Amino acid sequence: MTGKPALKLVAPVVSGATALIEAEKFNVWFHDTQVLKDIAVSFDKGLINCIVGPSGGGKSTFIRSINRINDGIDGFVVQGELSFKGRNIYAAGTDVTQIRKAIGIVFQKPCVFPKSISENVLFGLQPLRITKLEKLCVVEKQLKAVSLWKEVSHRLNDPATSLSIGQQQRLCIARTLAINPEVILLDEPTSALDPVSTRAIEELMLKLKDRYTLVFVTHNIQQAKRIADKLIFICEGQIIEQGDKDKLFNQPEHERTRIYLHDEYCEC
Ligand SMILES: Nc1ncnc2c1ncn2[C@@H]1O[C@H](COP(=O)(O)OP(=O)(O)OP(=O)(O)O)[C@@H](O)[C@H]1O
Ligand SMILES: [Mg+2]
Repeated sequence: MTGKPALKLVAPVVSGATALIEAEKFNVWFHDTQVLKDIAVSFDKGLINCIVGPSGGGKSTFIRSINRINDGIDGFVVQGELSFKGRNIYAAGTDVTQIRKAIGIVFQKPCVFPKSISENVLFGLQPLRITKLEKLCVVEKQLKAVSLWKEVSHRLNDPATSLSIGQQQRLCIARTLAINPEVILLDEPTSALDPVSTRAIEELMLKLKDRYTLVFVTHNIQQAKRIADKLIFICEGQIIEQGDKDKLFNQPEHERTRIYLHDEYCEC
């Protein structure tokens, strides 16, 4: 494939950035297949940034690139700029552990550890020496933040796997919050959940959006309609259209956007 760099490109620091996360001419390949093409987007604090688009379009690849969890995949190559607070995430010398602390991710299926509820909340804090009382404060604070405290405060030592799937997903978000990230990436976090748990996560997003930069991938157009502020439509590795949610739903510039958002169908 022409234009594919031999190595991961080291791009310079982006100056004058205002958004927390910015991509500019960002490309990704898996071996010879280009799966993201010239992605240019920014994610601001205070907004729910929703990414929608057909299966295989590159949504997960993109958000997984933001906290560098694609790094270990054989054949993964990036080119272009993807910055966090004005610094290229792929620059030489980047502390990947720090990136992952600052940019948390929640997956489609809740992935709780085979430990107790409170140990799951505290999991990312393990290396820190904090007292028992401080630990309890963290557990209470984060479980309250995800509206799980009332449901589980009497059973904090029970296995996390004993929770319902919806509760487990909120526990995963609490575990992410405990690390004190600035950005939270969510890859279809409600697709395995029932409607009540889905609404609980949506309400949680609305509550969290002022404190965190949220990037939320969803297949559910109605969900995007309910919670998105900014909407990004990705198809076949390209951003077809992005902007204010109401504008994309009511007055899209591209026919493909209109068809996808209204009929959940794409001819790309
Ligand atoms: N580890 C990998 N190795 C090779 N190709 C991959 C890998 N992961 C993803 N891809 C390819 O990259 C493209 C984008 O996949 P991705 O998972 O990002 O799409 P998506 O938009 O998240 O899809 P879905 O909505 O089904 O989750 C697809 O063609 C996929 O096959
Ligand atoms: Mg995906």
